[in-house]
Amino acid sequence: MKQDLAEMCSAINRGRSSPARHRYATVRQLAATSLGLNVVLLVSGGVVRLTGSGLGCPTWPRCTEASLATTPEMGVHGYIEFGNRLIGVVLELVAIALVATTIRTRSASPKAWLWLAGAQALVVPAQALIGGILVLTDLNPYVRALHFLISFPILFAAAALLRRTRDGAGPRTATVRHGLRLLTGGLLATASAVLVVGAFVTGTGPHAGDPRAARLPFDPDTLTQVHADLVYLLLGLTLATAVTAHALHAPKRVQRGIIVTIALIVAQGVLGYVQYHTGVPPFLVALHMLGAGLIFIATAWTHLCTTGPASPDIACRTATAPPYHA
Ligand code: HEM
Repeated sequence: MKQDLAEMCSAINRGRSSPARHRYATVRQLAATSLGLNVVLLVSGGVVRLTGSGLGCPTWPRCTEASLATTPEMGVHGYIEFGNRLIGVVLELVAIALVATTIRTRSASPKAWLWLAGAQALVVPAQALIGGILVLTDLNPYVRALHFLISFPILFAAAALLRRTRDGAGPRTATVRHGLRLLTGGLLATASAVLVVGAFVTGTGPHAGDPRAARLPFDPDTLTQVHADLVYLLLGLTLATAVTAHALHAPKRVQRGIIVTIALIVAQGVLGYVQYHTGVPPFLVALHMLGAGLIFIATAWTHLCTTGPASPDIACRTATAPPYHA
């Protein structure tokens, strides 16, 4: 099937110049950059917390009362916290470029692309604002959880835009049965629940970002148990989805997404137990945060792959990667 469509696409495109495709490719590259940078921001936010640099810049939007940037007096914590702020600025510039490029293709690209680009350009400043409130509230743990979790809607918008630009600008349709789409949606919802509880576990743990920061009034062991139980639910659901997808001969890209998700959950689960039983060493916690981002992207991507181009002809003319269902 992949081969057939690839051949059909080269036949359709023979002798056609396609300036629109170049612009679509730029949208795709920017969406991929945004996705990657969001993962970097997720981990760099973790580094701020794990090195105790949460108040390295003690105010916001300036770093100190007298300076927008950090100063040598703020020491290494100032550089770490300010570096994290700078990554946020770069992310917003990428989101603005994404909106501008999408607007340039708007006559031929679906409205959803502009919505997905615009959502990123709006939510990134919202995240910076919440980061500011976090600093001004001396790292309130509820605000900290919100600041962390708001990354995931941005990751979803970037992944959805990337998926769509790869598939082309034509109409979309489901590529799997409704029941399987429900299952992949369930995976995404359960993974999100694991992330939310994880953020609360962190709120009870030792890595607050600064010794002055308050901690959540919950029992860390009970919350960790709920977190791990949800992971077992996620793993069971992912295995059931893998069997269903195989039995229904779901497109290869959906089956690949599920396999990658299973591998990531197992690795992250082992890491979770190791860090829990070794007193949450910062390096392992940083890896755990990276794993959380990758698992979210894997479940989101798998779900996004359950739809695809409805019209091979339009897809062949506008897709920035080979459009295929198989
Ligand atoms: C699919 C598997 C898992 C995912 C997606 C996941 C995700 C997360 C997330 C998002 C956080 C919060 C990070 C933050 O707020 O900075 C977290 C924290 C944590 N997780 Fe997991 N987790 C998983 C499995 C586990 C398992 C099996 C355990 C072991 C019992 C575990 C133990 C912990 C602990 C102890 C923390 C708190 C770390 C700290 O103090 O900063 N996790 N997890």
